[in-house]
Amino acid sequence: MSILHNEQTGIFSLETAHTLYQMKADATGVLLHLYYGKKTGSDMDYLIRYTDRGFSGNPYELSSNRGYSLDTLPQEYSGNGVGDFRLPAVQVLSENGSRSVDLRFVGYAIAKGRRQLSDLPFVREAEETETLTVIMRDSVIGLDLELKYHVFPSQDVIVRSARLINTGNQPLVIEKAASACVDFLYGDFDVIHFHGRHCMERIPERLSLPRGVASFGSRRGMSSHHSNPFVILCDRHATENTGDCYGCMLMYSGNHLEEMEVDQTGSTRLVSGIHPDGFSWTLVPGEAFQTPEALLSYSANGLNGLSRHYHDIIRHQVISPRWQTAKRPVLINSWEAAYFDFDAEKILRFARSAKEMGMEMLVLDDGWFGKRDDDNAGLGDWVVNEKKLGCSMQELSDQIHALGLEFGLWFEPEMVNEDSDLYRAHPDWALADPDRKPMLARNQLVLDMSRQDVVDYLFDAMCAVLDHAKIEYVKWDFNRSIANCYSHALSADRQGEVAHRFMLGTYQLLERLLTRYPDLMIEGCSGGGGRFDAGILYYCPQIWCSDDSDAVERLEIQRGTSYGYPASTMGAHVSASPNHQTGRMTPLSTRSIVAQSGTFGYELNPEKLTDAEKEEIKKQISDYHRFEPLIAEGSYHRLTELDENKDFEAWMFVSPDQKEALVNLVMTHVRANGPFPHIRLQGLNPQYHYRLEGENIAHSGLALVNGGFAFPQMHRDYPAAQLHLVAIDEA
Ligand code: GLA
Repeated sequence: MSILHNEQTGIFSLETAHTLYQMKADATGVLLHLYYGKKTGSDMDYLIRYTDRGFSGNPYELSSNRGYSLDTLPQEYSGNGVGDFRLPAVQVLSENGSRSVDLRFVGYAIAKGRRQLSDLPFVREAEETETLTVIMRDSVIGLDLELKYHVFPSQDVIVRSARLINTGNQPLVIEKAASACVDFLYGDFDVIHFHGRHCMERIPERLSLPRGVASFGSRRGMSSHHSNPFVILCDRHATENTGDCYGCMLMYSGNHLEEMEVDQTGSTRLVSGIHPDGFSWTLVPGEAFQTPEALLSYSANGLNGLSRHYHDIIRHQVISPRWQTAKRPVLINSWEAAYFDFDAEKILRFARSAKEMGMEMLVLDDGWFGKRDDDNAGLGDWVVNEKKLGCSMQELSDQIHALGLEFGLWFEPEMVNEDSDLYRAHPDWALADPDRKPMLARNQLVLDMSRQDVVDYLFDAMCAVLDHAKIEYVKWDFNRSIANCYSHALSADRQGEVAHRFMLGTYQLLERLLTRYPDLMIEGCSGGGGRFDAGILYYCPQIWCSDDSDAVERLEIQRGTSYGYPASTMGAHVSASPNHQTGRMTPLSTRSIVAQSGTFGYELNPEKLTDAEKEEIKKQISDYHRFEPLIAEGSYHRLTELDENKDFEAWMFVSPDQKEALVNLVMTHVRANGPFPHIRLQGLNPQYHYRLEGENIAHSGLALVNGGFAFPQMHRDYPAAQLHLVAIDEA
């Protein structure tokens, strides 16, 4: 049993392989958070001390006990306006104008497994999953709250969410409903968050938490390039391999907010959920609202340890079972090869050349539909432009399959251009404020995915294409932030629901397509990695990591992404040199080593390759096939500390049985007469001897981990080295 309730003490204990999470409802029904961290084997309520603190008042019924204050006690899910002056987890507007919420414990249930969510992505049940539901009530306003805890013991993950139910007889307007709230009574934390921009996503920044509130989030209608819905709190001395680290990852692709507050005594509160700005949701009596899920994890083994928990749960409980172990195709994508300038002849020439080099799928990117010869027109008209192609999609697909390649197509379903037949027929299907010109971005508008008729149209339009040609893969793009988030189908008082209803519409469309085409692989994309989150990963096993395909920039992007997400989810391609985004020249071998640490592919014009380059690419692809199981299933280790090493970046994968490892190193700064790049390897079995591929030598795991490995000096711009280690015997 991973969930226990002690009837005498009232303590709930949630245990995973290495962690303990405790809470208890006290005599007044306040649900106190007691502990989250390394296992203790004890009740942890002794950590709470009570004292009378000025300006931290007392609940009315406890006014004689001046040491009892909601403002100083650790809360499991903080209410609003009734005496806890720290961040609320929930805020609800009642008919009389009050926004107060005071939730008290009324009961609980413990069950094996978990219930699926019907309209949101969720963490899929594992064999050992157990669920705790704690029921809280505010009987004054008629609100019930179900706090859900799904425990995944072997992955050291606890998945939380909240469900709010209107049990009264007045409408309630939810203005904030967090997915998770965690109070840390003691400890000094740094926060690591993942900021960025288009072409530079998920850059880790580590900051000491200040007193007061620090927050990160997105109001762009998407999880965004700018702030990933994932934060790490770690102790001030934590490194990649040591120290306490807590992660909180929101499984959501829309507006989100991660808030941290360090209070008057140094306690820290973390709250994560849908961004409350602009959000409101009316619950009429009897209705319920379900928040997205938040994945909490703790590791005593530093940031690498924490990352491995997230990699594990995403690979096995978030990604669809269809793709968990399936090989991903090595693809060639037409975007950087041709942009909008192609016809079927050119695409077939790419395909022939790609096939000769060993690639397995051709993806036809933007430009095959409607009046789409640049990015100003055509979105919404998902009708094949046969005039431009010179044939039907079926003919093109048949010819590509005849060459022995699979075929994929680009879509951007949630968008529309004003210059499109769809917009001309249904201008009210685009999000826009009444009487105001909407913001344009890339000359496009956003479709109102909160409307069922829009979702139905898109489903039919996409099926019409997918039914008439053999298509194994869809790249699902989303190329702007949402502004003017106003739906013409909802009343004025419901406009605060649009952003979340938009996400529900998108999830519904993804779900319906995957139900109809269970073998279709959908790769997520949003101007690169603008929606790289666990919500999208539930539907899409891989996401194009960034529109920046420069191998050197990708080192930062893929490293930042790796804190929360496994390599098997990161779309990564070898592109041309000089690179189209930066103009930087890098060796083909370096580009391949970097792209191999993701879902591998190419994004260049194969007709411009020399014969020698084609031969090199053949070898890269055959290497990738050898290494793919290791990259997809192995444990991942960042070998350099964040911000410490400026001359190279290094990382490695180790197979689950520790018999094989792949070490990658890229020089970002080559120095004259420089030092030998030296790193200590990780995750190897100290008992084994490992042979270095291509060299007739072996070293013990103990030596490689403790003494490390020194690479030869390297020259020229951005050289890279790869070490493949295979265990030969036990030492
Ligand atoms: C986005 C994607 C690119 C490409 C273009 C097409 O920017 O990230 O990979 O598909 O759209 O317009």
